[in-house]
Amino acid sequence: MTTLVWAGGLRAEDEPIVTAQDHGLTVGDGVFETMEVVRGRVFALARHLKRLEYSATRMGMTPVDPEEVREAVGEVLAAGSGLTRVRITLTSGPGPMSSARGGGTPTLVVVANDSPALTSCRAVRVPWRRNERSPLAGVKSTSYGENVVMMEFARSKGADEALMANTHGHLCEGTASNVLIERGGEIVTPPLASGCLPGITRGLALEWGAAAGIPLRVAAPGELEMGVLDEVVAGDAFAAVTSSTRRVQTVKALDGTMLEPGPLLTRLAQVFDERAAVDNDPAPRRDR
Ligand SMILES: Cc1ncc(COP(=O)(O)O)c(C=O)c1O
Repeated sequence: MTTLVWAGGLRAEDEPIVTAQDHGLTVGDGVFETMEVVRGRVFALARHLKRLEYSATRMGMTPVDPEEVREAVGEVLAAGSGLTRVRITLTSGPGPMSSARGGGTPTLVVVANDSPALTSCRAVRVPWRRNERSPLAGVKSTSYGENVVMMEFARSKGADEALMANTHGHLCEGTASNVLIERGGEIVTPPLASGCLPGITRGLALEWGAAAGIPLRVAAPGELEMGVLDEVVAGDAFAAVTSSTRRVQTVKALDGTMLEPGPLLTRLAQVFDERAAVDNDPAPRRDR
């Protein structure tokens, strides 16, 4: 696999970058973005830069100049070919051995590689819950330990995504994806109030799907109970996940039960691919 690394300039893949006291390393005090690369260009870069700024602000970090990040991404992409994925990580930099943040220079790292796209989704439900009232709810923070535990649980069951409820027992999201449910002739997705990340793919799917006349909307808070996934297993509803590495992907198996793809979700996946092919960098919009 090709891996390219930028940290103040291009670096060797195995070169040490952060100090032992980097607060991102010691306590997960950082934010990140993972993006798709299509023919040498980042898909939806403006939206990802906007969310990076949002996440940094929510964490009380000093946001980095988006132009600096854009240039770093450009440098990495120009240095390789066949790249498929790029990740920006921004930490608060060196800090003390406690949760208190230091006043050090933030660490900015950009890494790109040519890892293959995830072509199908096998999901499981996990017994843990997303805290929608957490200060990090909806923030793309490097404090992803909970997601790691849930993902390992999924992997132990032969799955590649874990779907979770929030503290009210309402459907929330996956460890690295948002979730869409098709039932009763429409597609609904949990609201941001559920504690889910304002996914870039989710936002675009809502906009592009609506423009194509697909009935879809954001659910009212509490409308989608976790129990809706029982309906999916029973074949009375359908599920899909959305993320920058999956786009819109129908869930192929849930808790080991093979599922049929929902017709509206299949159409939405097509519409997404068609629109993405002609609009590589859609302008940012306010998420719902
Ligand atoms: C927790 C979580 N939810 C949702 C998503 C999907 O977001 P996006 O479509 O911006 O990739 C991600 C992406 O990794 C995520 O980590």
